[in-house]
Amino acid sequence: MENFQEQLKNRRTFAIISHPDAGKTTLTEQLLLHGGVIREAGTVKGRGSNKLASSDWMAIEQQRGISVTSSVLQFDYEGKRINILDTPGHEDFSEDTYRTLMAVDSVVMVIDAAKGIEPQTKKLFEIVSQRGIPVFTFFNKIDRDARPALDLVDELETVLGIQAYPMNWPVGSGQVLQGIYDLRADQLVPFKNATTHSEIVDEAMDEIELLRDAGNPFDEDKIAHGQLTQVFFGSALVNFGVTEFLREYLTYAPAPAAMTTVDDKTINPEDAQFSGFVFKIQANMDPRHRDRIAFVRIVSGEFNRGMDVLLQRNGKKLKLSNVTQFMAEERENVQTAVPGDIIGVYDTGNFQIGDTIYSGKKSIQFPDLPTFTPELFNRVVAKDVMKQKSYHKGIEQLVQEGTIQLYKSWNGGDYIIGAVGQLQFEVFQFRMENEYNVEIQFEPIGSKVARWIKPEQLDEKMSSSRNLLVKDRYDEPVFLFENKFALNWFHDKYPDVELEEKM
Ligand code: G4P
Repeated sequence: MENFQEQLKNRRTFAIISHPDAGKTTLTEQLLLHGGVIREAGTVKGRGSNKLASSDWMAIEQQRGISVTSSVLQFDYEGKRINILDTPGHEDFSEDTYRTLMAVDSVVMVIDAAKGIEPQTKKLFEIVSQRGIPVFTFFNKIDRDARPALDLVDELETVLGIQAYPMNWPVGSGQVLQGIYDLRADQLVPFKNATTHSEIVDEAMDEIELLRDAGNPFDEDKIAHGQLTQVFFGSALVNFGVTEFLREYLTYAPAPAAMTTVDDKTINPEDAQFSGFVFKIQANMDPRHRDRIAFVRIVSGEFNRGMDVLLQRNGKKLKLSNVTQFMAEERENVQTAVPGDIIGVYDTGNFQIGDTIYSGKKSIQFPDLPTFTPELFNRVVAKDVMKQKSYHKGIEQLVQEGTIQLYKSWNGGDYIIGAVGQLQFEVFQFRMENEYNVEIQFEPIGSKVARWIKPEQLDEKMSSSRNLLVKDRYDEPVFLFENKFALNWFHDKYPDVELEEKM
């Protein structure tokens, strides 16, 4: 086995962000095929027509207990070990998706070349761009008619504000796809069985010339900070351009990064001291098993099964013996793991989102994970007033786990919960009923624009029917605006008041 340093150098940990249907699952499958983890396409759960609605998802989770096998996929390719972290789009979109993006070293953005940038891509990109990590762009589905490549690349700059650096270029698309032109090797990678259309080749060569004259210069520093994205074209479905993409990705994508602690110390992956942070907690949907899995991103040192660690928040000593790592098809009880890897620690209620764990004497505390601005809100009440105690306990614990965000009305004790995706409400309701035995009722207050206000600037009279004043879980004041117009109106009326948006 490779030594620790070698293993580190060869780790690549990333997530794929995309709008539903752009081809994330299909590309993931192709990558797994490259890694020899699966032998045929169509084996990854939840693809195409098999995609699960959230309600089905919960029923299924319930039947078979925790399903985490597809949360982290690991495979080897040409001497590198690759960890792909799943970021569900679709119905199961939630804060988990955002938090997962805090645990990767780079991101692959898959865009349907016929559609260009779609809303979900943009939302996820905005979260990623705050982190300043490398983003690789794969324009998919060029086996179908695609939009002009120059337009697509231009959109990256105008819609997302990231500079583009094409690594290859499509020569035609759909029926007349000739191939992709490798801009660095200066040669055409022909599409199998293409009949030659010389006018299409000429057109592409003109575009390439334009790119060479007027395009962005290659700049590794900008790539490393997510200001310049390397752009690839291909078709995941017919496995064209995927190998080229994967090779270049593995060349340029960063190995596991160092992290800074709250007291400004740099924790390097090579450090002997083991450390990591919890970025996601997945509860067991099976009420007979109350355990959960805490997903830990390893930051430094080597993990060894059975090792003792300290939970920074409360100094509690824990033995990491029941730990799983994730392969495509089965879970394995993991023996060792290194920075960049994700381990799933079976948890009986010790962990919270954002917790740091470490071995050894020197205390390490990574910063809290960011809070994300929720967009959907519900007032929540217990159906049975006799169950107040379990109701409060349930809410408190689920909020700590990061299932949902909690707010209270400014003067009364009304609970308002916020989320970035509808699924969070469903999971919350399900777990309140199954784990805390409390039936709850939602009173939708719809979609709102949440903005934090500095307490010293707050005047309760600023609140109106169009901007509801609430407290967050730290008792900080927040306005929930009816919509963007109400927010603008507020800005006009109180030009000196600064409002803050979370990530
Ligand atoms: P997602 O995970 O991003 O939601 O997308 P997914 O991979 O499930 O792909 C969505 C649809 O697009 C699928 O078709 C898939 O076969 C198709 N697709 C993905 N990549 C390509 C590509 O490169 N070229 C073409 N032409 N199609 C592609 P579907 O009909 O919804 O599903 P299925 O019945 O084929 O599984």
